[in-house]
Parts: sequence; C-alpha cells; structure tokens
Amino acid sequence: MRRTTIADFQKMKDEGRRIAMLTAYDYASALIAEQAGVPVILVGDSLGMVMQGQDTTLPVCVDDMIYHARMVMRGSHKALVVVDLPFLSYATEQDAVDAARRVMQEGGGQALKLEGGREIAPIVRRLTEMGVPVMGHLGLTPQAQHQIGLRAQAKQVEAARKLLDDARALEEAGAFGIVLEVIPAELGELVSRSLTIPTIGIGAGAGCDGQVQVWHDVLGLFEGKSPRHAHRFAEVGEQMVGALSHYVRQVEEGSFPTQAQSISMKPDVLEALKMKG
Ligand code: KIV
Repeated sequence: MRRTTIADFQKMKDEGRRIAMLTAYDYASALIAEQAGVPVILVGDSLGMVMQGQDTTLPVCVDDMIYHARMVMRGSHKALVVVDLPFLSYATEQDAVDAARRVMQEGGGQALKLEGGREIAPIVRRLTEMGVPVMGHLGLTPQAQHQIGLRAQAKQVEAARKLLDDARALEEAGAFGIVLEVIPAELGELVSRSLTIPTIGIGAGAGCDGQVQVWHDVLGLFEGKSPRHAHRFAEVGEQMVGALSHYVRQVEEGSFPTQAQSISMKPDVLEALKMKG
C-alpha cells in the first residue's frame, strides 16, 4: 500500500477523473476518510473553527497544524495529505521555509497549501525549488477575511481577470494544484480549462477538476444553517446526540452496564474476600 502522490494527483486530471478531497483533523477522521476512499485529505486551518471553536482561522498557529497533521498521518496510509500553512506563517520567503520545515518534518504532511495569488508566487517558487509541493488557494481566502469579507469573490470582470492571472502565476511558480473557493461556477470552469494542474473547488461549481468539503459540513455535525457551498450527506450530529442521550438515560436509570459489559469474580475468590474483610 502506498500513498497517493503528486504525480497520481496530476494523472487524475489528465485522465479526466474527478478528485474528491476532504478535510480531516485527527486519527479517527483520517481512518474513516480512508475507509471511504478519499484520495486527498486536507488538514485545513478550518480546524480553528471546527475543532477549536474559534471564530476565524486567524488564531491557528504552526504548532496547531503540526499537532493535527501528526494525527491525520497516523490514521491514513493511502491518501495524499495536504496541510495548510496558517495565517502569517509565510509572510516572507524565510518564514515560509521555516514553517514548511516544521510542518513537514514534525507534522509529516506531503504537501502544503498557501492562500494568495501572484503576490505569493515567489514564495511558492522557493518552496517548490526546495522540494515542497505547494497547493494554492484563491477566491474566498479566509485568512484575508478582514480585508475581503466572507463573501463570493471575482464576480465582476476585473476581479475575475485578476483571479485568472493569479492562477496562472501560481501554476508558473510550480504549484501542483489550486483550491478555488466561492467564485462563480463559470469562472471555476474557465480557470480549470486554462490550467494544466488540477483545480479543486469549494463553491466554485462542477467544472473544477475536483471538490473539497469540510468534514463537519458533509457529515452534518453542527446544527443550524450550513454554508451554501456545503452539502450535508448525513446528519451524523443528530445521530450522535441521540446515541449519547440514550447512554445518559441508561446510566441514570441503571440499565447500563449489564452483565455483557461486566466481568465477574470466581465464587471462591469472592468468598475468601468476604471472609478476610
Ligand atoms: O481550511 C480549510 O478547510 C480549507 C478548505 C475549506 C479549502 O482551506
């Protein structure tokens, strides 16, 4: 058994096979993702919200990414594992090299994802030249949310042209793939056709070479309204609450544990124990 490689990832686009990417953040979620046949796992900095309960991805640091990447690597043996570099950890080329060294040596991911366009192309080039596979991320880039908001991007001509130019710059700099987040489907398709490397959409339409979704969104782990780009493939959260309230009820009424979950002492041992007492 071997892991999906960057070459396999490219081959999927070349052969017209769509790529399913999913976030995972720990050992258990990685095991399940692999059982389901997910070929590419993203240890996303969305862990700031879904695992740490923060409002944004901004407080996530390199140590957090290493901690979660390690668990995901232990739970997966086949998937290509891409790890986000967190907010401001790649502000300069040297910062990026330092963060990449730590995440890849201590966390163990195979590739890194960075948010940004042409302005980060020199960083993407440097990392790529150093042997680090880099995935880009354009459109709604949550690390820049205080600048651009959490809304659809590149809906007008100028912004759409810029996004296309950014995508080409990332490809030229050596990126092996690009996430396109919440942009018009038509633009998602145009970018995907213009590039030779795979595009992975999230709210960027069916014309991308693959899709990425967040673990908690696809499994329906949170109550309330899901983002428009997410689809709840199951209501696992509801099932968990049901199962756990059942557990609480049974403990409270004394119907759990039963004989089946208990071990017993041999009668002579019990007798001796009582006598000594
Ligand atoms: O952090 C993340 O989970 C992501 C995906 C939403 C693309 O970047």
